[in-house]
Amino acid sequence: MSFLQSYTHLVDFSQKSLLLSACAIAFNPTAWNIVARKEYRTRFLTKFFGSGQAACYFLAISIFSLGLVRDFLYERALRAQPSHQLLEGTIPTFAGYALLACGNILVISSTWQLGITGTFLGDYCGILMDDIVTGFPFNITNAPMYYGSTMSFLGTALLYGKPAGILITAEVLLVYLIAIQYENPFTAGIYAKREQERAKAGGKKVEEKKEL
Ligand SMILES: *[C@@H]1O[C@H](CO)[C@@H](O)[C@H](O)[C@H]1NC(C)=O
Repeated sequence: MSFLQSYTHLVDFSQKSLLLSACAIAFNPTAWNIVARKEYRTRFLTKFFGSGQAACYFLAISIFSLGLVRDFLYERALRAQPSHQLLEGTIPTFAGYALLACGNILVISSTWQLGITGTFLGDYCGILMDDIVTGFPFNITNAPMYYGSTMSFLGTALLYGKPAGILITAEVLLVYLIAIQYENPFTAGIYAKREQERAKAGGKKVEEKKEL
């Protein structure tokens, strides 16, 4: 059997549910980055909802709901895929539960640290954190949310015993790595701008004092 044949044997690419799941995974970060950057530039959500806080809660609910749809589509896709005996048995199942547990710890602890507005793009809506969060889980990874989510995808793939889940997990990781490359410089820019403004305000105070 050629490599390609053995691979198509592991993953059933004729299932539409697989494509749909792959699309949902790529769609979510793309959509929220486009909407959040538009909000940052134009404040269209803040204007519509009346405050940055309300705009951010709208984003939070939307992103969370999209995530639920994505997870539902993923599990549905997995159920339609062939299993593989190497992924069945005690060790993969145990590894699956361990990955799910670690992944959820990363996601929940980072949400706990950042709060709702810090987690869901508050800085794009003008709600900036006072300080950079450095405690757990941010002392072990700079993107606990993304790596935690990736671990949960892999854990689910192992629990179902489906090679297709591993392929989808690779897509999740790729999408998040691109998102990190794209988001981190932008948010760094938002905070750099605030520091500049703070420095300017500080400078003004000094000048005022001199005049007195
Ligand atoms: C991260 O912080 C936690 C809690 O403060 C601590 O227990 C852990 O050892 C730290 N890990 C590293 C790698 O610094």
